[in-house]
Amino acid sequence: MTKVGIDAINFYTSDFYLNLEELAKERGVDSDKFKIGIGQERMSFPSPDEDIVTMAANAAYPIVQNCDKSKISTIMLATETGVDQSKAASIFVHELLGMPSTTRAVELKQACYSGTAGVQMACALVERNPEEQVLLIMSDIAKYDLDSPGEPTQGCGAVAILISANPSILELSPKTGIHTESSHDFWRPNYRQTPVVDGKYSTLVYIKAAKKAFAQLTEKSGVAFDEIDNFCYHLPFSTMGVKAHLKVAKSAKTEKPKEELLKQLDPILIYNKEIGNSYTASIYIALCSLLDNSETDLTGQKVALFSFGSGCVGEFFYGTVVEGYKEKLHTEAHKAQLLNRTELSFSEYLRFYQFKLPQDGSTFQLEHETRGMFRLAEIKDHYRVYSKCER
Ligand code: COA
Repeated sequence: MTKVGIDAINFYTSDFYLNLEELAKERGVDSDKFKIGIGQERMSFPSPDEDIVTMAANAAYPIVQNCDKSKISTIMLATETGVDQSKAASIFVHELLGMPSTTRAVELKQACYSGTAGVQMACALVERNPEEQVLLIMSDIAKYDLDSPGEPTQGCGAVAILISANPSILELSPKTGIHTESSHDFWRPNYRQTPVVDGKYSTLVYIKAAKKAFAQLTEKSGVAFDEIDNFCYHLPFSTMGVKAHLKVAKSAKTEKPKEELLKQLDPILIYNKEIGNSYTASIYIALCSLLDNSETDLTGQKVALFSFGSGCVGEFFYGTVVEGYKEKLHTEAHKAQLLNRTELSFSEYLRFYQFKLPQDGSTFQLEHETRGMFRLAEIKDHYRVYSKCER
């Protein structure tokens, strides 16, 4: 059987962020509620000339630069912040990256989960034609109502992953555990810009799905909790992953002490505390965080990942880290981007938040604000015009 998995991974987030201490001050809340209670410190916030297409192209560009584009059979873009009801966002990205017309492009949706459906579909495609690769991008902007419980759990980001045979970073097992069940914990009707969310209920739905999916993963793969060295979780906020990990550990009847379980999650939370929620991208930014920040060499170690999308679908799957993986990472660029972001004042945050593109198809030029390579430049005749900035 062909070994299939992650051959390259890179993330991108906006160069602007709001410090949650500032948000706490403005909302009259103790800042420890955000820092300790939900485990977040800052949240990336996109400028008006950034959207899921520009973030996706920025995340994928360094990967595409280093590979043979003609080998990429497919670009999949997973998002729940789509820019069009009909045209796939991946076609815009296809054009921005200069992909050949022989590469197919499609968009995927199931709340924060769909990127993982993409991973499984991409692995199946590569299994069928091992000489081909799939470029999978998860890109989202998590935006909640102002002054609502969800406001401190906003954020944005995109991750690009190259799935190929004989991968250089993470070899994925075909054995996975899945839990699908209809729930109304978080959803966004077409007429709304922000989701309807019952955060407390969503936590319960998430934990139930994680426990069920993990039990099925163990049953199908024979891999027990204690045989897994590292865990990555979808992180709408950091303490969500922590709560779920402790519950999964308990139901898997591990004897590991709580301190050890908590320590297992330290490296995956580092980027999330800075970026905030990024929906589909979140779990794969957690994976970058683990690979970039782990104090030990992860070669040969097992990494289990829990992907969750409200509504709901949860999937636990795992992979084994490949020798030499560090050489393929973009660790320095990831750290540099987070270090060099610009802090927004509360009024600048409100300006970004409240910005609306024209809804009537009229021509509109956007001010150049992002420092990313790709930006949304103009709206005309109801369509989006993107541009690549020379740097
Ligand atoms: N110091 C430390 N901790 C504090 C605190 C303080 N001063 N004040 C409150 N906390 C803790 C609370 O005890 C609580 O901890 P617990 O969850 O362990 O009980 C936590 O901070 C959150 O406080 P709470 O009052 O429950 O927050 P909230 O009602 O404002 O809602 C969320 C928090 C996370 C539910 C809300 O931000 C949300 O709904 N976010 C969106 C989540 C989402 O998108 N889910 C769907 C996708 S998975």
